Amino acid sequence: MQPSDDAKMPLAGFIPFLLCFTLGLMWSLLTPASCHPQQALCRLASTTALCNNCQLSSLPRDLPGNIAELQLNNNHIRTLQSRCLSGYPALRILKCASNLLDTIEADAFLNTRHIESLSLADNKLFTRYRQTGQALHSLTHLRTLDLSENGLTEDMASFILENMTSLEYLSLSRNIMLRLDMDIFRDLHQLRELNLERNMLFEIDWAFDHLQKLQRLNIAFNCLPCLTNFRLTQLVELNASYNAIEWFISHQDMEETFHLETLDLRDNKLLFFPFLPTYSRIRNLLLSNNRLRFYENLTDNGSQNWTTTVQFFNIKGNVSNVTANLWDETLHGGISTLDLLDLTGNQGRVTQVLSTLPVLFGET
Ligand SMILES: *[C@@H]1O[C@H](CO)[C@@H](O)[C@H](O)[C@H]1NC(C)=O
Ligand SMILES: *[C@@H]1O[C@H](CO)[C@@H](O)[C@H](O)[C@H]1NC(C)=O
Ligand SMILES: *[C@@H]1O[C@H](CO)[C@@H](O)[C@H](O)[C@H]1NC(C)=O
Ligand SMILES: *[C@@H]1O[C@H](CO)[C@@H](O)[C@H](O)[C@H]1NC(C)=O
Ligand SMILES: *[C@@H]1O[C@H](CO)[C@@H](O)[C@H](O)[C@H]1NC(C)=O
Ligand SMILES: *[C@@H]1O[C@H](CO)[C@@H](O)[C@H](O)[C@H]1NC(C)=O
Ligand SMILES: *[C@@H]1O[C@H](CO)[C@@H](O)[C@H](O)[C@H]1NC(C)=O
Repeated sequence: MQPSDDAKMPLAGFIPFLLCFTLGLMWSLLTPASCHPQQALCRLASTTALCNNCQLSSLPRDLPGNIAELQLNNNHIRTLQSRCLSGYPALRILKCASNLLDTIEADAFLNTRHIESLSLADNKLFTRYRQTGQALHSLTHLRTLDLSENGLTEDMASFILENMTSLEYLSLSRNIMLRLDMDIFRDLHQLRELNLERNMLFEIDWAFDHLQKLQRLNIAFNCLPCLTNFRLTQLVELNASYNAIEWFISHQDMEETFHLETLDLRDNKLLFFPFLPTYSRIRNLLLSNNRLRFYENLTDNGSQNWTTTVQFFNIKGNVSNVTANLWDETLHGGISTLDLLDLTGNQGRVTQVLSTLPVLFGET
């Protein structure tokens, strides 16, 4: 800005600016960082204490004793010490995301056992995960737990989740889990929603089969090569986008109706149309950006009976031989309930694939 512009600055605009500046200066002089007047930094809204972005390095201790929710996101807290929350026995919701948490002492939640929702996302809980696990085990009413972005391996997660039978919503996204076995979620009988997005999963071995209430499962952005034997009948939404999946095959001998409504397989390497459950309520089938071009030339051949078994040989040039039974009518029996089928971004003339789906088009 030129000096001459300064001179022309209207007085009316300048005075509020000066006032704000002076007040701001006075405020920061009155509340120096060194003396931590923590309650003053936190805002209270009814029984919620908002202490986000306050540069806190420990928990505020002088908040009203009746608070039900405490938000501490984006501070510098490293440790939740023993009994640090004991002044807040009514606490139900604690948010402590994006701090520097590496330790939760075993007695941290001693007087706050009724916490129902806990966010610890974006911390360093891998460091002392056993202690953290012990502390969490005292929260027998916990329904929602966010452990995303904490550097956790599957073994650490398995220890932490032991006996957490009350959990309904769990996020372990952005950790470093590689494979899941049938033990990792064994105690989570009430789980409804599970987010495992952005790990490095390449193998899942019966990990979800005993989660009888699971409705939403997100395994997007992992490294899974296939999903076979899919038999989670109660699941409503499965998001497996952004993996390396070549095959999706449902368990085929099941008479039960699957509750699956949304199947997101976008951005994978699907070679074939997914083998959907025989009986399902599927409405949204998202298959864009895959490799479903292999039908391209076969569909030109009028003699193919697409409602019966078809065998494919020498798929992909000289890479390998694949033999598969496709288009048995029962394999995609549930497809007539579809509202949305997204096949964009598949190389080749996928419209010809569509014309071979007798159930989908034969009935219209
Ligand atoms: C889980 O519960 C069982 C049976 O009550 C108990 O033996 C075990 O020590 C518990 N594990 C943890 C990590 O609390
Ligand atoms: C699946 O997860 C990806 C990545 O988070 C997201 O972009 C996409 O919208 C999700 N799909 C559905 C159907 O919600
Ligand atoms: C289909 O046939 C055309 C012409 O013969 C060929 O160029 C193309 O590579 C074939 N596509 C596939 C997927 O094999
Ligand atoms: C098309 O059908 C004819 C006669 O059944 C068969 O000889 C030929 O190999 C088929 N072509 C393809 C690409 O399947
Ligand atoms: C296709 O297969 C069905 C049995 O799966 C059979 O009834 C029908 O006649 C076949 N159609 C042709 C054209 O071969
Ligand atoms: C097929 O094999 C030849 C010789 O081994 C190789 O040069 C070519 O790249 C292969 N083609 C494909 C599509 O893999
Ligand atoms: C692929 O299958 C064909 C027909 O069965 C066979 O002649 C060929 O040797 C097989 N190729 C490979 C690489 O297995």
